[in-house]
Amino acid sequence: MRLYHAPASPFVRKVMVLLHEAKAVDRVEIVPVSGTPLDPGTLPVDRNPLGKIPALERPDGPTLYDSRVICRYLDDLLGAGLYPAAPHLWDTLVLEATADGIADAAVVMRYEEHVRAPESRSPDWVEAQWRKIDRALAAIEGRWMSHLHGPVDMGHIALGCALGYLDFRFSARDWRAAHPVLAGWWGDFSARPALLATAPDL
Ligand code: BEZ
Repeated sequence: MRLYHAPASPFVRKVMVLLHEAKAVDRVEIVPVSGTPLDPGTLPVDRNPLGKIPALERPDGPTLYDSRVICRYLDDLLGAGLYPAAPHLWDTLVLEATADGIADAAVVMRYEEHVRAPESRSPDWVEAQWRKIDRALAAIEGRWMSHLHGPVDMGHIALGCALGYLDFRFSARDWRAAHPVLAGWWGDFSARPALLATAPDL
């Protein structure tokens, strides 16, 4: 299997954390790619028409995307056990979707501030993305802390990757100040070997 990969992507990181947790990193060949929505560069547009990563090329079937599909596939293939059976599954999937929404809004902010032409940038648009992130962090802190202190699942991992991306690209916004309980959880969770092994370079 070939994984189209960029180390800064929080969505690629989800897949890599799963592989580390399952002790199966050697099951995929990493294919480094780069590009942006304005210039797809080496992004695998022939494998994923959306031009997004991660994408997982398989020898025996179509290329898989996006990160949620790839993670479900690898969890099943490797028996990683990161998606519990229903009804707990619904909690895991909602937490994963919320975390992915945080990462998605943060990547939109990054593109707006670094890829879009300066004269086209919208500070209002950027702040609206940040408000979405802040609401989601508050909701997680308000409702999900007992889940986060339970058995590790893909919701935990997706959240870790989203928070790691905020630290990586938006440390100046200091999300911890308004969400100290979540910050405490991340302080512990970020020390897991799979998270340490996949941290984007600062
Ligand atoms: C980044 O450099 O922030 C980035 C790279 C790939 C995907 C998403 C974000």
